[in-house]
Amino acid sequence: MSSVSRAALASTLLGLFAIGAVLSQNPDPAPRSAAPSDDRPAETVGMAGCAATGCHGRTNVRHGTLDADTWHESFALWLDRDPHTRSYAVLEGPLAKSIMKNLRHGDPSLTEDATKDLRCLACHTNPSLAKPIEDASGQLLRIRAEGVSCEACHGNAEKWQIAHTNPIAPETRKSTFAAWQMNDLNDWHVQATTCAGCHIGAPEDKARGIPVRDMNHDMIAAGHPRLEFEFASYQARLAKHWMPRNRKTGQPQSADAPLHAWAVGQLAVEEAYCTLSLDRMARGNADPRSPYPEFADWNCSHCHHQLAGVPWREQAAKAQSPARGLGRPAWIGASAYLPATPVPAFGEKRDAQKTKLDQRLQRIAAQFAALEKTPADVRKSISDRLADSSIAPANWEEASRDYLGLRSLELAIRSAGGVPSNETLGRLADARKALWGSPDEPARKEHAAKDYHRKPESRWLWEQKPDARPAPVDATLRALRDALANDLQKLPAGNPKP
Ligand code: HEC
Ligand code: HEC
Ligand code: HEC
Ligand code: HEC
Repeated sequence: MSSVSRAALASTLLGLFAIGAVLSQNPDPAPRSAAPSDDRPAETVGMAGCAATGCHGRTNVRHGTLDADTWHESFALWLDRDPHTRSYAVLEGPLAKSIMKNLRHGDPSLTEDATKDLRCLACHTNPSLAKPIEDASGQLLRIRAEGVSCEACHGNAEKWQIAHTNPIAPETRKSTFAAWQMNDLNDWHVQATTCAGCHIGAPEDKARGIPVRDMNHDMIAAGHPRLEFEFASYQARLAKHWMPRNRKTGQPQSADAPLHAWAVGQLAVEEAYCTLSLDRMARGNADPRSPYPEFADWNCSHCHHQLAGVPWREQAAKAQSPARGLGRPAWIGASAYLPATPVPAFGEKRDAQKTKLDQRLQRIAAQFAALEKTPADVRKSISDRLADSSIAPANWEEASRDYLGLRSLELAIRSAGGVPSNETLGRLADARKALWGSPDEPARKEHAAKDYHRKPESRWLWEQKPDARPAPVDATLRALRDALANDLQKLPAGNPKP
């Protein structure tokens, strides 16, 4: 079915619903006293508004077939396989109960129920519903219980539910989406920022009616898993309920789209961390439940040591050079991509920290600009960064994230049709050996293993004097970058059209 007739059909169907809705209303409605202005935050309509069989709810899911007709079964695909279907339910589970118990510290004025705590709801459901709800019909509460459903990613649908079934001219796509408050997820930057809002955190967004999303050290200490997010690999893990394509041209995605997604994701994640840190700083101690300085901003192993085993931290603390002190933010190194830029230090004056974060954001903006959306520029930008010798991790956290970013690039090169060389595979294994003590992929359970931190190459060595670091790690990561740069060079020429 052509996109025009498909849109026509959908709009006819929706038109019928809309007419029904109008007819069933009071025939002589009083004029609304204050006509809502266009830029007020859009309301949510709920998943049911998307799930009609004529719209996104066709149920004959053709397993694995993603094509021009996939939009018809997006709802069914999402329901069948998306991890976000669980996001509200986990607030009712045993881990959430124990987090809440720990957070509450017996204070009877605080809720024990995570499904009532607005801080948790801000990320575990549609963020715009993380507000007190007095709704006699219970409809909003039901929508809240859908968890991270359609509108949590696509934007609240009030202003576009009907309109989006008509074709949009490519030139007006950006402005139309903005006016509708619909997220243009086809833009990698928009998409990565949308995910990062919950997978890293984000300041309040008044225009969209979204509260601050902040998973802080108190919540980590109470048992919340630390949020680690790498866009390209998380995106690849999300079961697609869409056909990947360029929605401006309607054409299939460029073969280089995975590379583009990787580079944008690296920057967007770093941008989200800086923005969240600045916001935490600006909020300061205004809310006693989010104290400042926020420990989760800082490298965990500067304060923590493993609970079992040799008291290496005392040794490490003695050996530490003053410059390494309490040190660097926990998230630096989340980007294997950004050129080295000054970073704030714990205890430094707020103004100085702010200046550095602002500079970092400027650097990120410049890198985004360098990533013009033609495949050649994307490849060039990635090669330049791989060759950049200023990118050198300063501690284990940074090195391990650097590795994960580069491993994700290797996956992106494969998705773009490349074949990783034996050199690359060898360097990846070397890096794992240096970081985790074994050439195998690190498994989550390994972190819980008793002797995990005692492996000689493991993290604590990194927290000692820089010259006590296992030198092979620096050399290995550098060699890995070179090997990836070679693989990139050998990629067949990409589709010239983005
Ligand atoms: C900034 C957003 C954010 C906030 C705030 C937040 N969470 Fe989460 N939470 C997440 C994300 C994202 C994950 C999944 C992390 C992953 O797997 O990468 C998660 C995971 C969890 C899990 C583990 C789920 C599982 O499948 O094992 C529980 C339980 C949980 N959160 C409960 C809570 C509770 C309780 C609160 C409030 C005290 C809360 N969360 C606040 C974003 C958030
Ligand atoms: C976790 C975020 C997320 C959630 C939740 C989500 N989507 Fe999506 N959706 C995406 C992304 C990302 C794309 C791809 C955007 C692109 O490349 O244009 C997409 C694309 C789509 C498309 C385009 C399909 C095509 O092939 O033309 C439809 C339709 C859609 N989503 C409907 C839904 C519906 C209905 C729901 C709820 C049942 C939903 N989405 C929930 C992230 C999400
Ligand atoms: C409104 C908040 C929100 C948004 C937006 C969001 N997520 Fe999530 N995501 C969550 C929560 C909460 C969980 C944890 C669910 C659970 O543990 O069962 C999660 C889980 C996941 C998981 C499974 C993680 C695991 O450990 O198994 C993946 C993958 C994921 N998200 C990817 C994405 C991507 C990609 C996007 C953007 C296209 C995105 N998410 C957007 C909140 C969000
Ligand atoms: C500035 C020092 C500092 C930094 C940096 C820091 N923490 Fe903590 N952390 C503490 C202190 C102090 C406590 C004990 C708090 C209490 O009991 O109230 C704690 C408690 C914890 C606990 C609970 C331990 C338990 O057994 O009760 C966990 C888990 C934790 N932190 C994880 C992290 C993670 C993950 C990071 C990095 C993202 C981090 N911390 C960064 C100082 C820090």
